[in-house]
Amino acid sequence: MWGTLKIMKIRPIVMGLALLGALVFGSAVSLAQQLHLDPAKVMGPDACGECHKSSITAWKGSHHFSTYKALPRKKEARAVADKMGIKRIKAGSDCLSCHFTSAIVKGKTKPIAGISCESCHGAGRDWIKVHSDFGGKGVKAENEPAAHRVERFAKSEAAGMIRPSSLYKVAENCYSCHLVPNEKLVNVGKHPAGSKIELVAWSQGEVRHNVWYSKENQVSPIERLRMIYLVGRALELEYALRGVAKATKKAKYAVKMAKRAKKARKRIKAIAKLIDAPELNAMYKAAKAVKLKLNNEAKLTAAADKIAGHAKALAKNYDGSAFGALDRVLPAAKKYKGG
Ligand code: HEC
Ligand code: HEC
Ligand code: HEC
Ligand code: HEC
Repeated sequence: MWGTLKIMKIRPIVMGLALLGALVFGSAVSLAQQLHLDPAKVMGPDACGECHKSSITAWKGSHHFSTYKALPRKKEARAVADKMGIKRIKAGSDCLSCHFTSAIVKGKTKPIAGISCESCHGAGRDWIKVHSDFGGKGVKAENEPAAHRVERFAKSEAAGMIRPSSLYKVAENCYSCHLVPNEKLVNVGKHPAGSKIELVAWSQGEVRHNVWYSKENQVSPIERLRMIYLVGRALELEYALRGVAKATKKAKYAVKMAKRAKKARKRIKAIAKLIDAPELNAMYKAAKAVKLKLNNEAKLTAAADKIAGHAKALAKNYDGSAFGALDRVLPAAKKYKGG
């Protein structure tokens, strides 16, 4: 149980779910059934699709959508589950938190989709109405008073909405799933220790759905791409350290995570030389000050927390316009994942 609780600390949204998990699943079921989102607050993609039809169309072309049906049928998935002693992949297993979105259906917690709108934008129940109310019945977005707009966004965020403008927050979701900070799942289950994710390439391909403000689903503007790149590199370092923090045995998991952290640290150092942003040097220092060794959780977590602070500052303090020196390190369009 202690192990599970420790894993839970690194999930950004799931905090506080331990108690809820116990209530929903009953005491007989273990806390390992942590989910990425609070199922009682999940509305499901259809609720968003009422207004966001084109986003749904884009999403349906992604692995995030198809994994719902495809994963349980894969023999590779069965092999991982068998090694982990899991009978049903879709029923209360360790797999739910990253491969599925769960909601309460007829009183029971059930996976209802793959990785869906709310996996990245936050569970919607408390903000879905607020975020599309432009000042009462009949008032359209284009006629919304400026003050109302500011208040609407503030209220939506306070109720758990993760807006694209909060780049660190929206991207943190990607890294919390795409690095797999679960030693047993990797060493025993033989699950990959994570994806080779780089945020520009991975967000601008099949995942891209810039279909609201620019109907043609264009790639994000160059200034935004630079910021996506930076925040991705920072999160890579943060989450690799969180991964190493969970390492207790000299085996595949520990080796992979430590390699990843070293590489991420080196990259941050290199990027810090290209542009003028002291937050990057601060991140490098924090990472360099901690040893990448087994059973060093407290110190590694503290370093990761520091890096998170610098990464949030980075996302907030700059708009990318002065970072043209990054353009030569940004991935080319042909590298966009599934684009
Ligand atoms: C009743 C219609 C409606 C529903 C339902 C709805 N939205 Fe929206 N949403 C809108 C409108 C209209 C806008 C654009 C107006 C604006 O700038 O906020 C918007 C904007 C957004 C944005 C961009 C906001 C920003 O900060 O730029 C996101 C992200 C979003 N919606 C996500 C969702 C998700 C996720 C759901 C489901 C949980 C959802 N929406 C359900 C109408 C809706
Ligand atoms: C911490 C998040 C996380 C958890 C928990 C997790 N996975 Fe995964 N899984 C991923 C990610 C991310 C990928 C994609 C890896 C890549 O990019 O190659 C993946 C890929 C896979 C793949 C190979 C991809 C494919 O579709 O063929 C299988 C099989 C798989 N997972 C099975 C499982 C099973 C079974 C469980 C539960 C015992 C599980 N996973 C739990 C994150 C997770
Ligand atoms: C894998 C995470 C992820 C999923 C799943 C996801 N989004 Fe997004 N969404 C993002 C990110 C990241 C951005 C900002 C992209 C950028 O700036 O290039 C975004 C942007 C948006 C925007 C603003 C688009 C614009 O035109 O600028 C809307 C609206 C939105 N999402 C709604 C949705 C809806 C509805 C769904 C479900 C069908 C969904 N999202 C699924 C991560 C996600
Ligand atoms: C709730 C967990 C979760 C979140 C959040 C998440 N992903 Fe994923 N993602 C996965 C899993 C699991 C897979 C593998 C699905 C499969 O193929 O079975 C995947 C697959 C992908 C793929 C396809 C990879 C391939 O090998 O073709 C891309 C691209 C991707 N994710 C990008 C992103 C980006 C960018 C974000 C954040 C904006 C994000 N993901 C957020 C879990 C997640």
